[in-house]
Amino acid sequence: MEVVVLQDRTDIGRIAADAVSALLNRKPDAVLGLATGSSPLSIYDELVSRYEAGELSFRQARGFTLDEYVGLPADHPERYRTVIDAVFASRVDFADGAVQGPDGLAADIPAACAAYENAIRAAGGVDLQILGIGTDGHIGFNEPGSSLASRTRIKTLTRQTRIDNARFFDDDVDAVPTHCLTQGLGTISEARHIVLVATGRGKAEAVHHLVEGPVSAMWPATVLQHHPHVTVLLDDAAARRLQLVDYYRETYRSKPDWQGI
Ligand code: GLP
Repeated sequence: MEVVVLQDRTDIGRIAADAVSALLNRKPDAVLGLATGSSPLSIYDELVSRYEAGELSFRQARGFTLDEYVGLPADHPERYRTVIDAVFASRVDFADGAVQGPDGLAADIPAACAAYENAIRAAGGVDLQILGIGTDGHIGFNEPGSSLASRTRIKTLTRQTRIDNARFFDDDVDAVPTHCLTQGLGTISEARHIVLVATGRGKAEAVHHLVEGPVSAMWPATVLQHHPHVTVLLDDAAARRLQLVDYYRETYRSKPDWQGI
């Protein structure tokens, strides 16, 4: 796991966008894993700028979102499928239908989850997965206790996650859905490169467990310690509880330019 402590969200966006650009240059039909939440927004903004500058195209690329609320009406602005369009997909040149998400309105939830797994597999798997992390250590919506081998399925959101996300629902916790569909930890772990972004003090505990804690379903993101290519992009506040932070800084400073993340 590579840990990179950067100045701010803008720097994080630039470094992550460099990795996406390098991928699309060598593989224009790459499959991107797209996360919602506020953490990846600077990455999306940077990718949109590069697209607008003519440096990047998503015309042949595909995207898969991580998760979706169950039961939010199709026209609800907080539906993740709508959110990812607004913050990223509709701002670049993805082909129609190239970005997919799990169907939170499906009548047959298990069938929809299986179909989503099949769609990711049929696309050849995710090349680069952008991830945020919840304050309770969730990735996607894999809450504490999630099987480290889990696949796309329905989950119940914790009270803490619903409180954290109430800000998107007029600060009304009761308006936050109780259930979601999420790629499992096993599903996410199959992405070839994972770029996890965390900023702010509120994420420091989750980041501490992710990077330096024991692997445990109680902190679901720790499953990434098993993955061969994970890059964790942090600001100072999110890195403040890392014991080896000086080592991570030194390692990144002395890294050869050609290596990328
Ligand atoms: C949400 C999403 C996650 C996201 C996390 C952090 O619950 N399901 O994919 O990573 O919360 O969100 P934020 O980046 O806004 O802190």
